[in-house]
Amino acid sequence: MENQEFNRKIKKHLPAKAPEKLSDKENRLLADEIKQLLKQKNAVIIAHYYTDPMIQKLAEETGGFIGDSLEMARFGAEHAAKTLLVAGVRFMGESAKILSPEKTVLMPDLAAECSLDLGCEPEEFKKFCAANPDRVVVVYANTSAEIKALADWTVTSSIAVDVVKHLAGEGKKIIWAPDRYLGDYIQRRTGADMLLWNACCIVHVEFDADKIKSLKAANPDAELLVHPESQPEVIALADVTGSTSQLLQASKTRPAKKFIVATESGIFYKMQQACPEKTFIIAPTKAPSELYQCEGNCPWMKMNNLQNLRDALKNRSGEIRLAPEIIEKALLPLSRMLEFRKKHS
Ligand code: 13P
Ligand code: SF4
Repeated sequence: MENQEFNRKIKKHLPAKAPEKLSDKENRLLADEIKQLLKQKNAVIIAHYYTDPMIQKLAEETGGFIGDSLEMARFGAEHAAKTLLVAGVRFMGESAKILSPEKTVLMPDLAAECSLDLGCEPEEFKKFCAANPDRVVVVYANTSAEIKALADWTVTSSIAVDVVKHLAGEGKKIIWAPDRYLGDYIQRRTGADMLLWNACCIVHVEFDADKIKSLKAANPDAELLVHPESQPEVIALADVTGSTSQLLQASKTRPAKKFIVATESGIFYKMQQACPEKTFIIAPTKAPSELYQCEGNCPWMKMNNLQNLRDALKNRSGEIRLAPEIIEKALLPLSRMLEFRKKHS
């Protein structure tokens, strides 16, 4: 997708305004109501690390789950609850539905998009794949169910390098979509022959290498943790590059007491909880942005709040519905990843 067209599409889908802030008392009342509803409806909360800390806390208190996009999908499939309440962005709800078609999957707001998903349209992608029929199609989990239905493999950032290394070892050439920076990172790590789609994450693309260098110079004791959706010059400065769960793990196991973190700031909840004695600083971003000033906050992740979480449960709104033939086709590349993970972990 051309940059201008990509920007136009992103702008159209950005949330119109930030949700109004509620008082502590209102949030406490909402949390209590959600706890009751979860029991009544035999439901469980599955939240991504990037969601509001109040949602993550509620997931923990109610036997739900907080994790990266791979772990979220697995948890939903393995849990006994009949209803999965997915706090994250739409592709995460869709992955849960693909793996658990018999369950009701609800999302607080179905308009919670992802710029990578938006940047990869099925019709265009079909043409791209048809023009390169000799290549295995590997897509990032941050894609719609329709895109997954066109793929041979679906991967998340926690497993992408291992899967591509394995495919390259079998002599396979690869189509990668949609994140060009993650694709470039995987390509450099594996040496695989990869054709890259051209979309990016509007949050990670903003991290600024020069400003990070200055911040590191001012904090020589700090280590830099980077999600591989960031640009190569930021990745080049990293002490650790990895998926959200890998970065969280690094924050626990590395001896450093201070970290500069180039990923979405929601992850600070779990980092700070695991390491209360350590300091976490969000990596500085480019300013001003021609698109949207994220400053380490995903505008779509932040659309999830206690109010719409309650409403989804109460009214059974925000239900993920997918055509059975899409589920059937999209299940194949997702199951391959889960099988691969089982075999290689
Ligand atoms: P993870 O798969 O690492 O959780 O990342 C998902 C995501 O949206 C990153 O921006
Ligand atoms: Fe998508 Fe980026 Fe938001 Fe992750 S942080 S959900 S990749 S827009």
